[in-house]
Amino acid sequence: MTCILDTPLLLFLLLPKWQLSILFSRRPTPLTMKLKEFESILQDCAVFEKPKIQYEQYPTTAHLAARMIYTADTVYDDIEDKAVGDFGSGCGILSIASFIRGAGYCVGFDIDPDAIRIARENAEAFETEIDFVWTDVGQENALFDRFKGRLDTIIMNPPFGTKNKGIDMVFLKKAVEIANKAVYSLHKTSTREHIMKKAKEWGVQCEVVAEMKFDVPMMYKFHKKKSVDIEVDFLRFSK
Ligand SMILES: C[S@@+](CC[C@H](N)C(=O)[O-])C[C@H]1O[C@@H](n2cnc3c(N)ncnc32)[C@H](O)[C@@H]1O
Repeated sequence: MTCILDTPLLLFLLLPKWQLSILFSRRPTPLTMKLKEFESILQDCAVFEKPKIQYEQYPTTAHLAARMIYTADTVYDDIEDKAVGDFGSGCGILSIASFIRGAGYCVGFDIDPDAIRIARENAEAFETEIDFVWTDVGQENALFDRFKGRLDTIIMNPPFGTKNKGIDMVFLKKAVEIANKAVYSLHKTSTREHIMKKAKEWGVQCEVVAEMKFDVPMMYKFHKKKSVDIEVDFLRFSK
């Protein structure tokens, strides 16, 4: 798979870190926005037009996205002025939310060019500056090596591995390798024990930040119910 890199992204990858901090300082001061207001703004984020089940495309609701990013920012100080990556960025809601909360740099990665297009349209509609990279997070490629040490925080709602077995752990391992400070990720609560074990193996701390309900609406032909709540853990990994 090829990757499309545009100019701001190239700059991010090529500039030394001290120059990046100058770029970051141009960003406006983040908003002192209330959680409810933040959620309501994110509701305007467009979702997948024709979701692809092979990629487990389930959009994060504005309700969850707002709480995830708000907590990462206000409780852990992992968003404001930080370089934030979003693995499996889909239509971009987590990246957009991070930008709104004052991230210094945001970049999303997704395997699906249609999702990348919608994410770019969303980013434009929200008047944000976010890079979206078309790439397969599950494949070894030189691109990710270039991001190593350059992203402070990675925040993601990865595929849970129901169609592509094990992809959730592939995302997680790569994110933990790349992020300097913290990785936030949503996972089925039923996989908690396994994930905790893996985190120990990788030498990182894993904390359950919140137990949440992920509302899956009737999106695919095989869905029989109007909507189903899945129990998920919002996890934070730190080194
Ligand atoms: C559960 S959706 C979440 C989308 C988005 N982050 C959100 O929060 O709404 C998972 C996303 O991962 C993407 N994805 C699945 N497999 C991938 C892979 N191997 N590499 C990159 N992206 C992938 C899908 O296209 C989809 O956009």
